[in-house]
Amino acid sequence: MTATIERGSATAPVNSPKKAPARKRPGGFLGSSNGKKVVMAVTGAVMVLFLVAHMLGNLKIFFGRDSFNEYAHALRTLLEPIAPYRTLLTILEIVLVVSVVMHMWAAISLSRRASHARPVKYVAKKSQANGYATHIMRFGGVTILLFLIWHLLDLTFGVVNPEGVNSAPADRMISGFDASRWWVTLIYVVAVVMVGLHLRHGVWSAFQTLGWANRNRYRALRVTAAALSLVLVVGFLAPPLAITFGVIK
Ligand code: HEM
Repeated sequence: MTATIERGSATAPVNSPKKAPARKRPGGFLGSSNGKKVVMAVTGAVMVLFLVAHMLGNLKIFFGRDSFNEYAHALRTLLEPIAPYRTLLTILEIVLVVSVVMHMWAAISLSRRASHARPVKYVAKKSQANGYATHIMRFGGVTILLFLIWHLLDLTFGVVNPEGVNSAPADRMISGFDASRWWVTLIYVVAVVMVGLHLRHGVWSAFQTLGWANRNRYRALRVTAAALSLVLVVGFLAPPLAITFGVIK
């Protein structure tokens, strides 16, 4: 008897009327927590690559105004004459804006999900253990966004820069961080340290999302995340501080 029942259930047709239909998650992969974490990791990686390139580009100011201006010009003319002026930079800007928006969307949506799930034990524990990180990520994210608005008005568009709109990039940078505008340098120091803290935790979280952070690699990956952040903080802050303290004139 028992054998008949077992064989019957094992060989039942896949679309048996008794079988409950598989529940579809709202929004598919992007609607799931894992999907959102992957979005955060991928868009975060795009932004880290941009930051590394941006930091290296900024260091050209140590080789003189012409070197920096040539680099800024090359960014706009790199694909000419195959593609029009500024094509590469426009593509980069679109990729960056999409990355920032998707990164924020995933972050807000994950944090809402975590707060709704708070009664569930392990989520509550995780949220307490990560209290510092949660605060630094939220507060840091908003600070970075505000800084970015100022930064673009200052060095990209020249609207709040002493050299004005129609000036060379190197002149905007050197006048922008003049000792008389020490408070601008201070804003950059605070913002870049925030970027560093945000990155340290973000890169580490991405390692976990990718499943790399097992017991053997735990320490090495934590150190990697911290080292990458430190290099970016030092590299980004070197030009503003060198200008404010008169090393670059
Ligand atoms: C603290 C040192 C920094 C300096 C000296 C600096 C300098 C500059 C300069 C000179 C430009 C204009 C480039 C051009 O018009 O050719 C620029 C653009 C930009 N920077 Fe920064 N930057 C710094 C940090 C950052 C940070 C930390 C971020 C991001 C969190 C950032 C994001 C951007 C973005 C998105 C653009 C616009 C790129 C574009 O579309 O043209 N920068 N930066």
